[in-house]
Parts: sequence; C-alpha cells; structure tokens
Amino acid sequence: MIKVLFVCLGNICRSPMAEAIFNRQLKERGLSAQIASDSAGTSRYHIGADPDPRTIDCSIGNNTPIDHKARQVRIEDYHEFDYVLAMDQNNYRDIAAVFKKEHPHFYLMREFDEERDSLDVPDPYFGGMDGFQEVYDMLWRASDKLIDSIAREKNL
Ligand code: 4NP
Repeated sequence: MIKVLFVCLGNICRSPMAEAIFNRQLKERGLSAQIASDSAGTSRYHIGADPDPRTIDCSIGNNTPIDHKARQVRIEDYHEFDYVLAMDQNNYRDIAAVFKKEHPHFYLMREFDEERDSLDVPDPYFGGMDGFQEVYDMLWRASDKLIDSIAREKNL
C-alpha cells in the first residue's frame, strides 16, 4: 500500500479536506486498493477534534465524504508515509523540523496545482465560506495531478 499524508496547522480545515478529496478521486479512479491517505497538523490545538463545521459543510456540499479526527504530525510519520504534502510553507518548515532528515517525497501541495498563483494553500480558518470553496477548488486540482504523479512513479 502506498501511503500519503497531508499536513496543515490545525488539521481541521485544509488537510482533512485534502484527504477527503484525494480519497474520493482515488475511488473514482479505481486506485483505493493501492493508495491510502491520512492527515495531520503541526500544532496541538485541535487534537481529537472533528473537521471544522465549515470544512464539513464545504466538503459535503461538493459531494465529498469527510471523516477524520485531528492529530499532530509525529516523527514516526517519516517512515510510515511514502508521500508527505504540506499545505503551506510554514507547515513545510515545521514538518521538516519534526522529521529532522530529508524525506524523499516531501512537497508543497500547490506544486501540483497548475493554476497556482502562490505556493501556499491559504488558511481559511479566520475567513468566510468563500475561502473554503477556494481551498476546495485548488485542492481538487492539486490532488488530481498528485495522483497522476504517484501513478506514473509507481506504474499504477
Ligand atoms: P488548518 O486551519 O491548519 O487548515 O486546519 C487552522 C485551524 C485552526 C487554527 C489555525 C488554522 N487555529 O489557530 O486554531
């Protein structure tokens, strides 16, 4: 099984949404038996919490089932996950500090977004619902290209 980890700050907005979208796309592409995913946060703020109600509304509103309990990223994730995707550049630095050595497949999520105007998935936590839909749309694009890339690399 190929394992993919999505990481943001709180693990209640961006990364659980990325995980949900990725899982839906895997299912639609018939790749759920070969690739699995999880998500985590760099902070301890929301450990054990469900996704933010706005994350759930947005996900369900876009026909994407979502189910996750927040957890913090840990050193063991370095070995457990084949691919690690940071939502923004602060997350990237914080994950690198936890791992302490270079992970072979460690990227910014928006490296896979061909329509990006920035390398960061913006944090929607302090904004309105529009921000959540924008995040959903960019994660949808990036996730699709990420799956293309993994499928190419692993000959799926
Ligand atoms: P996330 O959003 O990193 O996309 O889950 C945030 C959630 C909570 C907080 C910040 C960002 N917070 O400060 O509690």
